[in-house]
Amino acid sequence: MPLRLGILVSGRGSNLQAIIDAIEAKRLAAEIRVVVIDQAEAYALERARTHGIATATLDAKEYPSREDFDRAVIRCLRDHQVELVCLAGFMRILSSHFIQEYRNRILNIHPALLPSFPGLHVQRKALGYGVKFSGCTVHFVDEGMDTGPIVIQGVVPVLDGDTEDSLAARILRLEHQIYPRAIQLIAEGRLQIVGRQVLCKGSEQEAQERDAWGYINP
Ligand code: GRF
Repeated sequence: MPLRLGILVSGRGSNLQAIIDAIEAKRLAAEIRVVVIDQAEAYALERARTHGIATATLDAKEYPSREDFDRAVIRCLRDHQVELVCLAGFMRILSSHFIQEYRNRILNIHPALLPSFPGLHVQRKALGYGVKFSGCTVHFVDEGMDTGPIVIQGVVPVLDGDTEDSLAARILRLEHQIYPRAIQLIAEGRLQIVGRQVLCKGSEQEAQERDAWGYINP
């Protein structure tokens, strides 16, 4: 049985697209049951429709509180029997009610090597600090801001002359590899959360197969 996904997005949806592509290429044993969008004009909507995926557009302004909005999202995810929630450029903080409802079943992708540079304007922060490597992180979502247990990280170099855009683009290519991979590890039942650590069965044997131009672990 494919893992039943609900994807939450706010914008262009390139990570959504990477997940769709991985499913269609049979690299990912999952099924997107619904894409939840909080911005009516998001390009992600177009992507979902093109692939015949159910969408739900929910406008936060129509709900009296964050928790009411989250309850509406939860209802939608339940209606579609979602097992794993994937945040893919979803620009809202989830309430603790939501986190409790889907504890250890919410993933997020962040364009930096956490715990460095959480939050927004991440490339600007990385360039400003002068780090020589950056990358991306798929992590489980807890009540903090980008603080949950880390599933996968991918590393890219920061090059002289990089701009926020060039660094973001290099990182984004790696995001598109690691997000479907992280979901597949869950679909295969290979992950175990032990405290802050996410252990991955069989990852030692796979070290040889990893990309030469970036580094992905596990
Ligand atoms: C990505 O950089 C992701 O890491 C961050 O938001 C961006 C979303 O991009 N959380 P897209 O909508 O998937 O293209």
